[in-house]
Amino acid sequence: MLFRPRNVLAFISIFVVCILFFKPPPLHGASSTFEYLETFAKKFPEISNATLGFQQVFVINLPERSDRRDAGTLAAALSEIDATWIDGVAGQHVLEKVLPEDSAGKGISKGNKGSWRAHMNVLQRIVQHNIGSALILEDDADWDVRLKSQLQVFAQAARAFTQRVPGKSQQSFAEELLSSRFPDREQDFNRLPYTVPPRLSPYGDSWDVLWLGHCGTEIPRVPKKVNMSALKVLVPDDPTVPAPRHLKAHPFALQDAIGELYPPHTRVVHLSMNTTCTQAYAVSQRGARKLLWQFGLQTFTTGWDLMLRDWCDGSYTQASTDSTNGNLPTKLPVCVTVQPPLFSQHYGKGAASDITAPGGGFISKKKEMTPYIRLSVRLNMERMVNGAGLEDLVDQWED
Ligand SMILES: *[C@@H]1O[C@H](CO)[C@@H](O)[C@H](O)[C@H]1NC(C)=O
Ligand SMILES: *[C@@H]1O[C@H](CO)[C@@H](O)[C@H](O)[C@H]1NC(C)=O
Ligand SMILES: *[C@@H]1O[C@H](CO)[C@@H](O)[C@H](O)[C@H]1NC(C)=O
Repeated sequence: MLFRPRNVLAFISIFVVCILFFKPPPLHGASSTFEYLETFAKKFPEISNATLGFQQVFVINLPERSDRRDAGTLAAALSEIDATWIDGVAGQHVLEKVLPEDSAGKGISKGNKGSWRAHMNVLQRIVQHNIGSALILEDDADWDVRLKSQLQVFAQAARAFTQRVPGKSQQSFAEELLSSRFPDREQDFNRLPYTVPPRLSPYGDSWDVLWLGHCGTEIPRVPKKVNMSALKVLVPDDPTVPAPRHLKAHPFALQDAIGELYPPHTRVVHLSMNTTCTQAYAVSQRGARKLLWQFGLQTFTTGWDLMLRDWCDGSYTQASTDSTNGNLPTKLPVCVTVQPPLFSQHYGKGAASDITAPGGGFISKKKEMTPYIRLSVRLNMERMVNGAGLEDLVDQWED
């Protein structure tokens, strides 16, 4: 009786109706914010700790910019982030004789010299204390109050690049795709393959840099770069991603086509390509050692973010294998990034960068703002110190 076609049909209909009715509501909009938080907050509890799943969080700040240290201290406290402040370096205090040789004649500005030294000092400290992984922020970085949930999602996506797929080989999912018929694959976040649980960091065991705050990055495509994975992990329906009309290209950005290429409210995780600005990046111990060797000792030719961009793009890897280390295998650094970024520069009232002045269409002199960040900590600080809940906060990039 039960298996008569009409019964089967009835069951299927009921099943379909159930799916339609019990489908979770879409994640956009203020009403579902809490659900979004709850879904992810439980997956990797260590990412919700005071150092965001890294061993330490450093913020670089020139001591005389006490205004920024005040604001940054408050922003970190309101997000329950334990930040360690690192003194920035003024360019005039950097001696010529400490610079890598190839910096001679490059006309490097004082601002770039100070910035280079400050970033080298952080890397030096990470190496000295054998810190497993650290997040490095510039002092005007801003983030969404839902950062910890965003990082849970990012960590899971990043593992497609940083963790081994069991059984088959020693490769990550991204590396495996390199030799497949779909090297340019766009993979739904909800359908990522299982990867081996990491031991060193919740973000995965084999990465050098996680470039979480930038002002533009290219979406990798095959065959733009042989041997670099062009995998894109798409996080659909992310309510913390602004609508496409708010994803205007930053004046420094090379290509910011994310708003046109993917459905609204999609966040994309991929390998870094042509990424600029270092508002926020994490380094592993292995990454810190490579970077300190390359840029503390070998090379200093331009702004720190541009050197990091080229390093992640593999420019230095190629150069070094060509010359002295001829027998080492060519292995590109693993730098994972995300669009839109999870950290962004906050443009306060009249405050300019100490390295270079900001410019271009993004920046309005009248309005305080942070590109890409919806429930900005900086712009909600007054409400938060007065005890406002999540539902009382202002979304600066409303749909
Ligand atoms: C947060 O978690 C990371 C990764 O497990 C760990 O290295 C770090 O020490 C933790 N931070 C705190 C403050 O417990
Ligand atoms: C690309 O990777 C393969 C195997 O991993 C290697 O044999 C080849 O030399 C690499 N090509 C370049 C240009 O680095
Ligand atoms: C980065 O962008 C510049 C300018 O668009 C382009 O010339 C260069 O080839 C790009 N680099 C990479 C590694 O894609």
